[in-house]
Amino acid sequence: MAIELKQLIEAAVAARGRAYAKYSNHPVGAAILADDGNIYAGCNVENAAYPLSFCAEANAIGTMMMGQGKAIRHIVIAGPGEHVCTPCGGCRQQIREFAGKAGVPVTIVDRDGTVLLETTTAELLPHSFGPENLS
Ligand code: THU
Repeated sequence: MAIELKQLIEAAVAARGRAYAKYSNHPVGAAILADDGNIYAGCNVENAAYPLSFCAEANAIGTMMMGQGKAIRHIVIAGPGEHVCTPCGGCRQQIREFAGKAGVPVTIVDRDGTVLLETTTAELLPHSFGPENLS
């Protein structure tokens, strides 16, 4: 496995360890390899008012924004395992904003970092709407 992917997986698994998921008991971590070569990670952060919870992917994007990253080159998502933790519909749209129309690789791993699924943002959100669609 390429060193870069290994590091990205490790970052997603570590981020999952920081999750605040006391209501769903479904901790998720996400790690983005950005266009600046850096890795930006995030975890889900839940709230007693359930709908206010933030997904791991959205928080990883926020971390990227606070760094020097402007675009997503690859994203790894670490779920609890057993079931493949694919990004929710809202996160697919949020990821697409920074991944471009052509799409980038998405790797889903379990709690131990074992790869469960390799896909792309374009496959997860076909015929997507993005900045280019605005007149
Ligand atoms: N969750 C994520 O962090 N990312 C996803 O794409 C799917 C769902 C979180 C939200 C909530 O805190 C928990 O997983 C259960 O839905």
